[in-house]
Amino acid sequence: MLKIGHRGAAGLAPENTQAAFEKAIEAGLDMIEIDVQLSKDNELIVVHDYDLRRIAEINKKVSELKLSELKMIDIGSWFSEEFAQERILTLAEVIELVKGHLQINIEVKMFREDHNLLIKKLVRLLKEKNFSQDVIISSFDHQLIKSLKRSKPQLQVAILVASVPVDPLRLIREADADGIHPHYLTVTEELVQLVRQAGFILNTWTVNQQDEITRLKNLNVDGIMTDYPKLLS
Ligand code: G3P
Ligand code: MG
Repeated sequence: MLKIGHRGAAGLAPENTQAAFEKAIEAGLDMIEIDVQLSKDNELIVVHDYDLRRIAEINKKVSELKLSELKMIDIGSWFSEEFAQERILTLAEVIELVKGHLQINIEVKMFREDHNLLIKKLVRLLKEKNFSQDVIISSFDHQLIKSLKRSKPQLQVAILVASVPVDPLRLIREADADGIHPHYLTVTEELVQLVRQAGFILNTWTVNQQDEITRLKNLNVDGIMTDYPKLLS
């Protein structure tokens, strides 16, 4: 089963930062989940939110700023003063940091309309970094997943769902996906069996309670995402 650190290891260090990714490596995880979107100047950057209020107390959209402007912002102090030097990373920087140690679940956040540009940049970067084999790309935007799979069939892709799907296999097939990433509270024995018997993968998020991790392990899910890597050991 894949042990996946959510936003790196968001319980131990500020989310989606070098410090969090280093914690994930130290903990011996298999994979990190990170959130990716485009900056104003179309760089693939690793940030979860639509704006910078929560992680930097700045009332601006991420997509309004260029990479050089985003790089000046402290995204660690909100978590703890000891992380004041943490800066927003590009996806390229994260790949370089974890290559050889961790695979990456790249969650694409679509806050802008330009699917095609993001897909083009993502596919090109993964090729350049020779990292295409080591990723699962996921998104709540199932149309983006479908387009991505069409443009690069070798990439492993999964649809994200937050509520109980009426017909999960239909959703997966409609997106031409390889699997599904459901919220853990929606994961039942029936769902896991249905998905896995049809040959698809199921990774679940974000599980921070030991009893739930035990339950999901016993159901034989393919992977579990947590903010606290120790819970998976
Ligand atoms: O990819 C799983 C999970 O990260 C989805 O929700 O809001 O934590 O990005 P969120
Ligand atoms: Mg995410």
